[in-house]
Amino acid sequence: MKAVIPAAGMGTRFLPATKCSPKELLPVLDKPVIQYVVEEALEPEGVDEAVIIVSKEKPQIEHYFSPAPELEDFLQSKGKDELAKRVQEAGALPVSFANQDEPLGLGHAVLCAADAIDNEPFFVLLGDYFVPSRQMCIDMLEVSRAHNNASVIAVAPAPEDQVSRYGIVGGSCVGCLEGHDASGEQPGAIWKVDTMVEKPKLEDAPSHLYIVGRYLLSPRVMELLKTQTPGAGGEIQLTDAMLRLLDEEEMYALVVDPKQGCDTGTPAAWAATNARMALEHPDTKLAFYEELGDVEL
Ligand code: UTP
Repeated sequence: MKAVIPAAGMGTRFLPATKCSPKELLPVLDKPVIQYVVEEALEPEGVDEAVIIVSKEKPQIEHYFSPAPELEDFLQSKGKDELAKRVQEAGALPVSFANQDEPLGLGHAVLCAADAIDNEPFFVLLGDYFVPSRQMCIDMLEVSRAHNNASVIAVAPAPEDQVSRYGIVGGSCVGCLEGHDASGEQPGAIWKVDTMVEKPKLEDAPSHLYIVGRYLLSPRVMELLKTQTPGAGGEIQLTDAMLRLLDEEEMYALVVDPKQGCDTGTPAAWAATNARMALEHPDTKLAFYEELGDVEL
């Protein structure tokens, strides 16, 4: 099974930093965001490759995942074996690349991986968001297996004043993850999806559950994307193709805790993610506070 990671967007919310370097290569501590995403993508049983969607303007992503034997030799000659190992690991991950000629939207980016997915279910993981525990996709696969290999999307409850900013799902709660005691919009609850609405007014929203950027999709979505016309913003939207899928196949949503994931798509989100990751480990936490000195947060 493949995991598709779209990383060919313009990153306009992060300009000018993204003028000539992709936002997916921004570091979180010592690794670029997209390496966290690739490692997360490879975690569920059966995923053997991450297919990264890139553009001609962003050749750096492919470079990053290429082997760098000269750099490894140099580091080893200086006795920096641990760093050499980290560099080697980044160049040895099972990734492949597909090109998106123009940033025509998330649905279009996913369609660029059509040849690679081989008529099998596939994951989609947005390239600017990652889950440090790597558990979300594993749980989604469990839900899919329990429901006849149906498509599963991860959703999280949005605060009421933010519902109109997101794609919101509607449906009904039909159970929960094994070992959880969850219902309604609580993390661990499982919904059968019957609709999706892009940026609804709060009073029209079918729930508060927004799509967070992790999808496990039936290969039928690829077929539907081939005939998908542009939607909101003139872009080919993945949610529009998924709405059409609902007419043909069952789809489920797994409610996740929004704190499980780290966004890096804006300067503020990226800075918060770095701070959070630095504070999660005793050694980086100490160094973080030392660097801050007497600056108050
Ligand atoms: P975003 O909408 O967050 O990324 O898409 P963006 O368009 O690059 O960012 P802004 O809004 O201009 O700041 C989520 C992911 O989908 C990819 C992006 O690279 C990002 O990782 N994407 C988006 C594509 O690969 N192609 C597209 O046409 C659009």
